[in-house]
Amino acid sequence: MTSFWSGYISVLTIGTLVALIWLIFATRKGQRPDANNHKLGHVYDGIEEYDNPLPRWWFMLFVATFIFTAGYLVLYPGLGTWKGVLPGYEGGWTAAKQWEKEMAKADEKYGPIFAKYAEMPITEVAKDEEALKMGGRLFASHCAVCHGSDAKGAYGFPNLTDDDWIWGGQPDVIKTTILKGRNAVMSGWKDAIGEDGVKNVAAYVRSFSGLKNPEGVDLEAGKQVFSTTCVACHGPEGKGMHALGAPNLTDDIWLYGSSFEMVQKTIREGRNGHMPAQEEFLGNDKVHLLAAYVYSLSQGNTEN
Ligand code: HEC
Ligand code: HEC
Repeated sequence: MTSFWSGYISVLTIGTLVALIWLIFATRKGQRPDANNHKLGHVYDGIEEYDNPLPRWWFMLFVATFIFTAGYLVLYPGLGTWKGVLPGYEGGWTAAKQWEKEMAKADEKYGPIFAKYAEMPITEVAKDEEALKMGGRLFASHCAVCHGSDAKGAYGFPNLTDDDWIWGGQPDVIKTTILKGRNAVMSGWKDAIGEDGVKNVAAYVRSFSGLKNPEGVDLEAGKQVFSTTCVACHGPEGKGMHALGAPNLTDDIWLYGSSFEMVQKTIREGRNGHMPAQEEFLGNDKVHLLAAYVYSLSQGNTEN
């Protein structure tokens, strides 16, 4: 903020405060006994208007808000270059410092617990009810935005509760996925195989899952395209390859939809799913706990 605006705001704030204090004291009638029941002489429908002083408790309420305001302005930054003198905040309070403090406190409290679980094998942690509760809370704060609060995923975000894994479901592979993130690369094939190729191979791929295809597609030609172009990643039987993140195309579980249109779109334009790496953000110990939680989801260990 420029010094003009911070000066402007400071003058406005203090000016308003002083004006309000003046107003409340200047118009105070005091508590003289004869001040009560003094009528102004207005009558409306038989109702008369009194000119009584503010009740004392009400007046004190105003005084309390003035004291609160003054205290707030002294403790917190806001006026000009004033940094505030809130105890425990060297050089003045900021939201970032408060957040860091809370995180440090949480780390101090939970760090040793996380560290204890990080020493245990993931399969063991996945049987520990306390650990799963903590993992569930971490999941809700860091993963649910994409994978859903029930971890069942959505369009483009995989379901983590089934036993169908794009990158592999072994405990340490799940942990690597979360730590390092994943980038799926499936480029678009329109230029290489043409619009007919897209149509035929889409139909062929859908037939793996027993889905009905529209009339006029050539499954033989689709098979041809598949065995020359797609096998490298999806494998000869279309069962996919964990190392490349190429999904199994035979299980009728679809990340991007199963309709003839959607499968064609996937093949025509390609897909690039991105799972963000959590190592720097959450650290090894929390990721270990999360891996155990995710692993447990498909093991039937929890109610989800
Ligand atoms: C270079 C490796 C590679 C090749 C070659 C490849 N794919 Fe893929 N395919 C992938 C990857 C990786 C994904 C996952 C994309 C994602 O998760 O965003 C994918 C996803 C798909 C999907 C989406 C599945 C779903 O669950 O929604 C379909 C359909 C598909 N590929 C079909 C094909 C077809 C047909 C071909 C041949 C024309 C082909 N792919 C060639 C790597 C490949
Ligand atoms: C910004 C969205 C986003 C967030 C946040 C996110 N993920 Fe993911 N995650 C994805 C996407 C997209 C994929 C699929 C990548 C692909 O296409 O292969 C994925 C894949 C995965 C996989 C691999 C699934 C498989 O079948 O192999 C796991 C495990 C996973 N995420 C766990 C987590 C956990 C745990 C968190 C919380 C720390 C998390 N994700 C946070 C988007 C996200």
